[in-house]
Amino acid sequence: MRGFIHKPVMLREVLECLAVRPGGRWVDGTCGGGGHSAAILEATSPDGFLWACDRDGDAIEAATERLGSHAGRWELKRMNFSALDQWLGRGKADGVLLDLGVSSYQLDSASRGFSFQADGPLDMRMDVRGGMTAAELVNGWGVGELARIFRELGGEPEAGRMARAIEAERRVRPFTGTGQLAACIERVSPRRGRRAHPATRCFQAIRMVVNGEIESLAAGLGAAWRVLRRGGRLVVITFHSGEDRMVREFMRTEAREYDMPPGQPDVPELRIPRAARARLVSRKAIQPGEAEQLENPRARSAQLRVAEKLED
Ligand SMILES: C[S@@+](CC[C@H](N)C(=O)[O-])C[C@H]1O[C@@H](n2cnc3c(N)ncnc32)[C@H](O)[C@@H]1O
Repeated sequence: MRGFIHKPVMLREVLECLAVRPGGRWVDGTCGGGGHSAAILEATSPDGFLWACDRDGDAIEAATERLGSHAGRWELKRMNFSALDQWLGRGKADGVLLDLGVSSYQLDSASRGFSFQADGPLDMRMDVRGGMTAAELVNGWGVGELARIFRELGGEPEAGRMARAIEAERRVRPFTGTGQLAACIERVSPRRGRRAHPATRCFQAIRMVVNGEIESLAAGLGAAWRVLRRGGRLVVITFHSGEDRMVREFMRTEAREYDMPPGQPDVPELRIPRAARARLVSRKAIQPGEAEQLENPRARSAQLRVAEKLED
């Protein structure tokens, strides 16, 4: 697919953390244009195998073209990574990669409706075959709900004012395009020389709701973990602090040597001892180096976490 541009983030770190080697079996749950996938296939030549998926039809088309030269060593499927275990079964893979969020291609293609830089239909769905569009959300949700997602998912300090401005405008003219929404938000919070567009946080929040990103991640972490064999590695790259917290908590819980009774605070007296199910390969999140951050501004907020499975 022509024009699919996306630079894979922290490529060297991903390959190291997945501990790729020839002969292994790998999973890329967010293949996008196939940047990480192609690198995994190259590093695992001649006989490594890769299962890869993405919810986005354009991504699958681009990745199919990109991986073409590694014939017979990969299988691609258009699906949500939250169902990886239903696709692949348990205990099969040596490593699973989840590189969350959206690709540069999605952000930069006006027709996909993610962009506040270029006007396009207010869509934002990764999988355009169904589900709520951004226009349906922006025109249909109450002011309180809009303010809540702008605040909770976008971290937007002016969430209430922005939600009220949207409500006032849609009474006169329902939102149909990304340009209209970006301009409405910019009137509430003018740019005044800031680097980021004032609509950045609201657009992120809307996108995350439209695509059920938090719910997919909550289910996807468990699904990816089940797909791993003992000794296999889960590598997750996030670009959102809430998502990073979810990944950190998931990995820490697996690495603990105890369970907690459901709904109880974590106090030593209540702990039920058990063997750790994971090893944290790196205690802290790994971030891109300075050179990568300079070269690829989209990498700046990336955080990579990695855990190794210790049980079957
Ligand atoms: C940051 S891009 C990945 C880029 C890719 N690693 C590469 O090197 O080209 C994220 C991709 O994940 C996909 N995606 C996001 N959430 C998904 C989910 N729950 N299931 C499947 N794909 C998802 C998006 O459609 C997008 O193509």
